[in-house]
Amino acid sequence: MKRLELENNQQFGSKDKNEINYKQLDLFPELTSVSQEQFRPIHYLGSKLRILDFVKNTIDQVDPSGGGVCDLFAGSGTVSKYLSKSRSVTSVDIQEYSRVICSALLRPTTKDINVNEFLERCISSLHYTELIFCMQPMIDYETHCVDKALHGDPIPLCELIEKGSILTFEQGLNLDYSSDLSEALKNAISRLEKSDFILGPEALVVRYFGGLYFSYLQAIQIDAILEEIHKLPLESKDTFLAAVLSTASDIVNTVGKQFAQPLKPRNADGTPKKNLVIRVQKDRTKDVFSLLKGWLELYLSQERSEYDHYVYKMDYSNALDDIYHTKTSDIKVVYADPPYTRYHYSRYYHVLETICLRDNPKISKTNLNGGTNLSRGIYREDRHQSPFSIKTQAAAAFNDLFNKVSNLNVPLVMSYSPFDETKKATPRVHTISKLEEMAKNYFARVETVSAGQFSHSKLNHSNNNFDISYDAELLIVCQL
Ligand SMILES: C[S@@+](CC[C@H](N)C(=O)[O-])C[C@H]1O[C@@H](n2cnc3c(N)ncnc32)[C@H](O)[C@@H]1O
Repeated sequence: MKRLELENNQQFGSKDKNEINYKQLDLFPELTSVSQEQFRPIHYLGSKLRILDFVKNTIDQVDPSGGGVCDLFAGSGTVSKYLSKSRSVTSVDIQEYSRVICSALLRPTTKDINVNEFLERCISSLHYTELIFCMQPMIDYETHCVDKALHGDPIPLCELIEKGSILTFEQGLNLDYSSDLSEALKNAISRLEKSDFILGPEALVVRYFGGLYFSYLQAIQIDAILEEIHKLPLESKDTFLAAVLSTASDIVNTVGKQFAQPLKPRNADGTPKKNLVIRVQKDRTKDVFSLLKGWLELYLSQERSEYDHYVYKMDYSNALDDIYHTKTSDIKVVYADPPYTRYHYSRYYHVLETICLRDNPKISKTNLNGGTNLSRGIYREDRHQSPFSIKTQAAAAFNDLFNKVSNLNVPLVMSYSPFDETKKATPRVHTISKLEEMAKNYFARVETVSAGQFSHSKLNHSNNNFDISYDAELLIVCQL
């Protein structure tokens, strides 16, 4: 890869606010050969997996000392993981699922773990046996719906995906069910009640997400695994939980492998979508236990880093305050990859958050057709709303970020990236020239560099992680 020449390149960075000149780097050779070191824990919108070398080289340029780096919006942890080979990393993100993944990547358990024994314990647990008994009516009904769809009648399957939420039925918010679905739901709920599985976390995944995002069987398998994980010593929990998140991300039955909403089984005119049953079977027949085994083995086989790493579930601004007040902090450079559009990350990954917190959250409601119902996506009511994704708050958030990093007296490397659910360009909350202008109030030198005008989709059509935009990935490099 060509090296960045931040020091000497005069034409670098925007002189005219309306005209952006940025150096284009030919990264393609590296990008086509994603190595084993590049670990993708979950399918993640805006993952930096494909530009890790570009990010690392830029950081090394602005801080050749090899000091600590803070990855301020760590997300799926891919950047933290990559940088951890050569620096001490502090990962920060507001979401618990990100903390769990980063902790598993940066501070993997040191306990000697027998994966097969763990899986055996899950499969033979009383808890799993009881969950199977409780959910048998729904497991059988789902099989029946798939069979019917395979034989030309997809209507029951459409209804199951649209109305199969146990939680919604429990709360009596939707009254319009076919008698077969209603019967199956009633039976399952009555068994869950008898087992005392309604108020606690024992059956949380199946009650909240079964039938919608996962098959009922997959959902109870996740519940059974979570129950065993919570018996493990604290030191091992994050590694196991991260493997569950990776598994959930692989099996989820949605478009694009996010959790923004379950499949829409019908066309706008109400007719069932063609190939619905194929889509449903593709994900819902995936075996949770064998996928988990693979993920656990991968997490446990990671090479250990020789540096110390720190992981925090925290707001970026509080984290910068803490770093400022910790006089001993070794952080010599900050990498920031904040959200850039009005789409909140928490909407896309709320299921992972709830799997980690296991806290029976209140679910937000919608008012549709004159009635109140639970949100179709079963979103947590307390879902995080990022100021970076709110038009009226984003400018203040960026100013705060620039201000607090400059107070640390360290350079900032900030990604400016696309994120799009529709695969068309999504307007960002701020233009790059506006951000550069803001950054110049705090940093002496502000330059923008590009990984090249490649599109994610050109790189890998089949990979859902990268089908997000045709824009280039940029880094805004701020130096004091
Ligand atoms: C663009 S993603 C980061 C992607 C990451 N670089 C990767 O490769 O996976 C933005 C992240 O910012 C986090 N976030 C949003 N608002 C935040 C805040 N106020 N404080 C900390 N993290 C925040 C989101 O949870 C999300 O994980």
